[in-house]
Amino acid sequence: MNILLTGASRGLGFATASKLLADGHDLWLLGRSLSEPLRKLIDDYPNCVQFQACDLQDVESLRATLSAWGRQDNFRLDGVVNNAGVAYDDLVTNSNLTEIEAMFRTNVFAPIEITRFAIRNMLLHQTAGSMVHVSSICARKGYKGLSMYAATKGALESFSRGIAREWGSRGIRSNCVVPGFMETDMSASLTEEQRSKIYQRTSLGMATDIESVASTIVFLLGPESRSITGQDIVVDSGTI
Ligand SMILES: NC(=O)c1ccc[n+]([C@@H]2O[C@H](COP(=O)([O-])OP(=O)(O)OC[C@H]3O[C@@H](n4cnc5c(N)ncnc54)[C@H](OP(=O)(O)O)[C@@H]3O)[C@@H](O)[C@H]2O)c1
Repeated sequence: MNILLTGASRGLGFATASKLLADGHDLWLLGRSLSEPLRKLIDDYPNCVQFQACDLQDVESLRATLSAWGRQDNFRLDGVVNNAGVAYDDLVTNSNLTEIEAMFRTNVFAPIEITRFAIRNMLLHQTAGSMVHVSSICARKGYKGLSMYAATKGALESFSRGIAREWGSRGIRSNCVVPGFMETDMSASLTEEQRSKIYQRTSLGMATDIESVASTIVFLLGPESRSITGQDIVVDSGTI
């Protein structure tokens, strides 16, 4: 499969890229930076990865990248993973509109733009493709300081369901994966006490395993999930 994936430099995106490459797929990666682990991974799979540096907040640069890829004959998308995201953590009473707008550009507007482009590509090549968007358990359960971040993920989930309805007749699917708290850079600033409180809210009493989330994304991209669309698959250690 040809898969477009955002935010593969680290965390969940890197784990997902590793799995997809190990399974023999070709990747089109969009991200701000080529991290050292990602550079090594790409070296391990020569000819299977196209990486383009792109800040997802910059819609003009995003459009230019997608258009340039679209002109390549081998750019025939089977799937997309809208993974890149940022979390602006503060109480709404302290919130800064510039920060909120930047987060919405990365977490919501860029996935919409990528989806628009990907669906056009799938229609052009008559591909029954699969869109996977990475949401967050924050969209469903309240966490102090994360209400504005939760709003971006709630928007993404609603968008995904609408896309499933709009394009299902053409065989195109759209689903969200909804992870609980994972041990990545995004959650690195949490104190031990905050971590412990978050994990106590889960049935398994532990962080969400990144590999478990990445495997769910891979499953939703592939043919074994062919009857699943418009769904939000929660992978969160059983948050109560
Ligand atoms: N960690 C959690 O507990 C958790 C829980 C639920 C959901 N999620 C969601 O899971 C997804 C992956 O998160 P993660 O934990 O793996 O986070 P992470 O380790 O912080 O990685 C975030 C990725 O997004 C990329 N990114 C951020 N802003 C970007 C921009 N403007 N343009 C291009 N790329 C950008 C980063 O690239 P750079 O290296 O260039 O910064 C990085 O590759 C996100 O959508 C997040 O909201 C995370």
